[in-house]
Amino acid sequence: MDAIDRLINNNLAWAARMKKERPGFFEALKDQQSPEFLWIGCADSRVPANEIVGLLPGELFVHRNVANLVIPSDLNCISVIQFAIDVLRVKHVIVCGHYGCTGIEAAIREEEIGVVDNWLMHVRHTRDRHENEIDALETEEARFRRLCEINVVEQVQNVAHTTPVQHAWRVGQELTIHGLIYGVEDGLIKDLGIRAANRTDVTEIRKRGERG
Ligand code: CO
Repeated sequence: MDAIDRLINNNLAWAARMKKERPGFFEALKDQQSPEFLWIGCADSRVPANEIVGLLPGELFVHRNVANLVIPSDLNCISVIQFAIDVLRVKHVIVCGHYGCTGIEAAIREEEIGVVDNWLMHVRHTRDRHENEIDALETEEARFRRLCEINVVEQVQNVAHTTPVQHAWRVGQELTIHGLIYGVEDGLIKDLGIRAANRTDVTEIRKRGERG
């Protein structure tokens, strides 16, 4: 069996199991999706969004890229955010980073990979802005883990500053942004306690970050 045939076979078995366990499931999804959550995560194959939070098709709107970055000039990511908020009316935007992120590691070690180094420039800037806090940690592992966390906090703020989020808050649409981090080594998600449901929350998160 070739590699793709294996996937097609897996899919047949999965669809059959879903139909048996949840009659009418696919029919109900046919004409609409109404997810409550937008997930912005890393493209890493070890961090499959739906699976690790136990959500079914239709429950999670997903955007993934290397190192879960939210960059204002990235039309792809910003379009996903706008669609999720304005059309799907999600109530929560989750930025979920992960420990052991290869993108973050490449940025911290100044390794040369190629085109992706341009993308990871954003992580290098984050590292430079938080240099004092990161360098104060004793081991390279601790510095690496902390940068994975700080990167999430930065992206939560970036989400908050996008035009769709600012607009939603201005018109009183209920929307909360959360910062989570996943451990590829134990399969557990940790809530970083970063929550932004309005502009004041964002200012607080920024001030907390500046204090270190
Ligand atoms: Co990653």
